[in-house]
Amino acid sequence: PSLPPEVFHIIPIFGSAMSYGNDPLGFFAQCKEKYGNVFTFVLLGRKVTVALGPKGNNFVLGGKSMAFSAEDAYKHLTTPVFGKDVVYDVPNELFMEQKKFVKVGLSVENFRAYVGMIEDEVDHFMKTDAAFLIFQMNDINDWGRFDVTDIMAQITILTASRTLQGSEVRQGLDKTFSELFNDLDGGFTPLNFLFPNLPLESYRKRDVAHRKMSEFYVDIIRKRRESGIDAQDMISALISQKYRSGRPLPDHEIAHILIALLMAGQHTSSATGSWALLHLAENLKVQEAFYQEQVKNFGNPDGTFRSMTYEELRELPIMDSIVRETLRLHPPIHSIMRYVRSDVPVPPTLGAPSKDGAYVIPRGYYVLASPSVSQVDPEVWHNPTTWDPTRWSDPEGVAAKAFKSYADENGETIDFGFGAVSKGTDSPYQPFGAGRHRCIGEQFAYLQLGTVLATMLRQVEIRLDQPMPEHNYHTMITMPKKPRNICYRRRAL
Ligand code: HEM
Repeated sequence: PSLPPEVFHIIPIFGSAMSYGNDPLGFFAQCKEKYGNVFTFVLLGRKVTVALGPKGNNFVLGGKSMAFSAEDAYKHLTTPVFGKDVVYDVPNELFMEQKKFVKVGLSVENFRAYVGMIEDEVDHFMKTDAAFLIFQMNDINDWGRFDVTDIMAQITILTASRTLQGSEVRQGLDKTFSELFNDLDGGFTPLNFLFPNLPLESYRKRDVAHRKMSEFYVDIIRKRRESGIDAQDMISALISQKYRSGRPLPDHEIAHILIALLMAGQHTSSATGSWALLHLAENLKVQEAFYQEQVKNFGNPDGTFRSMTYEELRELPIMDSIVRETLRLHPPIHSIMRYVRSDVPVPPTLGAPSKDGAYVIPRGYYVLASPSVSQVDPEVWHNPTTWDPTRWSDPEGVAAKAFKSYADENGETIDFGFGAVSKGTDSPYQPFGAGRHRCIGEQFAYLQLGTVLATMLRQVEIRLDQPMPEHNYHTMITMPKKPRNICYRRRAL
């Protein structure tokens, strides 16, 4: 057996850290040209084997957890932020139980209540935040401007805390909480992934913020237990669960799961919302179609709108394909990694075997899948780098056909246009990952993003008067680079 080809680099240990860190997708594209779909690069002393394309995704995401471990890859980054005894700090079987507990808090009954709460938060924000000053004034001809990610970050935390995190968290969402969140977030960066512990101020702040945040949640959980109130939200759901062993979740585990959910949902949703608004501001035809979908379904004769129900929200093909297409071009997570626990042969269909036989990825390496690459693969997608939500509603489109042939092969049925697309580990579309580590926040993210976009665009028109921003890969979650301003004007009633 032989090793996968190694990417040429000049500085030992440092390896390709610079090229990968600045532009991972450009780096993967160059490597693919030279070495094919499977290659290893050196990242500050780590050996990372990349497996590209749907087959590569399948290899990494469909791999057995005995061989490919997420906890060994992520734990040193996540445990100081989330806390002990949850997610990657426990064996995978236990985390799988915790994921089931969280799903109880993501029930349809809870979702039904969330739509109105999110509308309410966005409305209130637009009426009170300084960025929407023009909106608050009467003159409908004036244009205002805001930094789209600054605004989306605030709206995301307000709406997620009001819904998922519970009313106590929303009420406690003052300056102190925001500072704690920022300090914690400052410990969730690529630097922390590469160096778990450095004698830096940001690491110290991360640890202090974790302790305080954890105490903040534990306090809320204790009061809930004492009052016995079932608030139909995540905290109540977690309090009511038991492990298979019969053990209920102690306060600190519930607190740490809540921190994990806050971190998992915050930047992913605010990045997606930002990109969606940027594209809608640029593509006026789609913006108008989105607005008209709202008018047709929820418009009152006097120009105002009524609330959406959760069931109605799920039946809006234009809204759905806008979010879906945004996640295709801008998946917030560009690299999904696992630590290799035992030698793993690369299937011959994925990496051409050399004269010495199939490649083997040795224990101690990392493997990396990048669904971002297959999501813009010209062999799968027509005009792959164009943001075109209509591709999702055209049953004759290339994407539809690609998914259909995948579905036929795997005996799955796929509901096209909107609703389900393939969730298989070798699907070319995986913004939420696939396999045992797949995201459980997808439905919530669609609900949150759809409601936020609709509530905003019912009230303002938006325009882009700058080029579409580039991707910033220096943060864990891919964000739009500054400047990222959107112009807006109040809609006439
Ligand atoms: C896992 C993306 C929102 C909770 C994942 C993974 C991806 C992802 C790619 C797989 C990671 C891996 O395999 O290593 C996204 C995107 C989101 C989003 C694009 C929004 C647009 C959320 C929200 C929540 C959440 C709102 C919580 C309510 C989780 C959890 C996992 C996960 C618990 C499981 C991790 C594991 O099993 O290892 N997400 N996510 N996500 N996500 Fe999300």
